[in-house]
Amino acid sequence: MNKPIQITDITYWVGVNDRETDIFEALWPIPKGVSYNAYLMIDEKVALIDTVKNSYVTHLLDKIQSLIGTEKQVDYLIINHMEPDHSGAIDIIAQMYPDITIVGNSKTIEYLEGYYGINQNVMVINDGDVLDLGEHQLSFHLTPMVHWPETMMSYDIQDKLLFTGDAFGGFGALSGGLFDDEVNVEYYEDETLRYYSNIVGKFSPMVQKAFTKLKGLDIKIIASTHGPVWRTNPGLIIDHYDRWSRYEAEDGVVLAYASMYGNTKKMAEAVSRGLVVGGVKEIRMHDVSRTHVSYMLKDCWRYKGIILGSVTYDVNPLITMKHLTDLLEAKQLKNRTLGIFGSYGWSGGAEKYLRGFAERTKWDLVEPVVEAERRPSKDILDQCRQLGKNMAARIVKDA
Ligand SMILES: Cc1cc2nc3c(=O)[nH]c(=O)nc-3n(C[C@H](O)[C@H](O)[C@H](O)COP(=O)(O)O)c2cc1C
Ligand SMILES: [Fe+2]
Ligand SMILES: [Fe+2]
Repeated sequence: MNKPIQITDITYWVGVNDRETDIFEALWPIPKGVSYNAYLMIDEKVALIDTVKNSYVTHLLDKIQSLIGTEKQVDYLIINHMEPDHSGAIDIIAQMYPDITIVGNSKTIEYLEGYYGINQNVMVINDGDVLDLGEHQLSFHLTPMVHWPETMMSYDIQDKLLFTGDAFGGFGALSGGLFDDEVNVEYYEDETLRYYSNIVGKFSPMVQKAFTKLKGLDIKIIASTHGPVWRTNPGLIIDHYDRWSRYEAEDGVVLAYASMYGNTKKMAEAVSRGLVVGGVKEIRMHDVSRTHVSYMLKDCWRYKGIILGSVTYDVNPLITMKHLTDLLEAKQLKNRTLGIFGSYGWSGGAEKYLRGFAERTKWDLVEPVVEAERRPSKDILDQCRQLGKNMAARIVKDA
């Protein structure tokens, strides 16, 4: 995708694919990369919507110049989001086009100065303001905390195209296809949920506020800063976002366990059987020490039931389980049904910690909470199966 791709009569994708970064935000694995989508609108005025990570600036410039040549100027740079995966090329773009006007809200401008020392040629817009590009007008909609305090969206009134910043974006570089009708949608739905749960999910109430605010807009195309452009079925990704940000979940259970020598694992296996006997088909079983927390978080955002089981290690759950529970608390996932089990060798600790987690999250706790001292007995394994069945009865509609 070394050439721009036309989206509407005047708008082009001029983004890049990052296939080199392994860990996004120094936390989240991206084995299939990520795209940084920037867009160029060529009207009487030329407007660039967002930029790319700084190491990819030459690719962005090549694409811009292949469209407008080396003489013509870019008149406006619209900044929907200041996170460096999109703002990283601002200073080089500002040097290349010294007369460019940088457009953002009052918060954007603070960050622009703070990160890049830029305070000249800046236009501060307010919520609802409109910028005239010639034939097309762009309206601006402040959507604070739909990832950062300064995040906003820009809307091409004529083409009904919404530039959404990180919202509706997903992991996974673009492998030739830009539009939702050119790609395997299921893959990007899944990677969009992973991106949502890892990055945006904590701000779900603000996503809901943004939805209320954008209600009046007729949206035909969603152009996010990551992943595909949704032009054929934008309603699909809008519906997903609406449900995810209301913490709605599907029938299914995440069963995550921590075990060093197999005793707690045995309990997890018994729970899984109980789930199936109870009618659960979608079970996502994870050894927390082996699956990256990014993927477990995604599954927890997707499914109604979450069952956590841990061995006791130094009076606590194994640290990999604590990593998962810490992140679930930090992301403030709500409205889940929880099951707990644990094991210990002498005085315990894991089960107590997980009960505390249940209280802090206020999730519905399914009985029994099962705890094994050393090797789980037949009775303990029966209780584990019962936990699975009881969870099934709570979450499967026709169980
Ligand atoms: C490094 C280590 C630390 C442990 N710390 C505790 C502890 O603080 N309290 C406790 O009751 N048991 C502790 N145990 C015992 C384990 O919880 C117990 O052996 C358990 O049955 C192991 O389950 P697993 O086979 O699923 O790993 C510890 C075990 C190990 C190997
Ligand atoms: Fe972001
Ligand atoms: Fe981003």
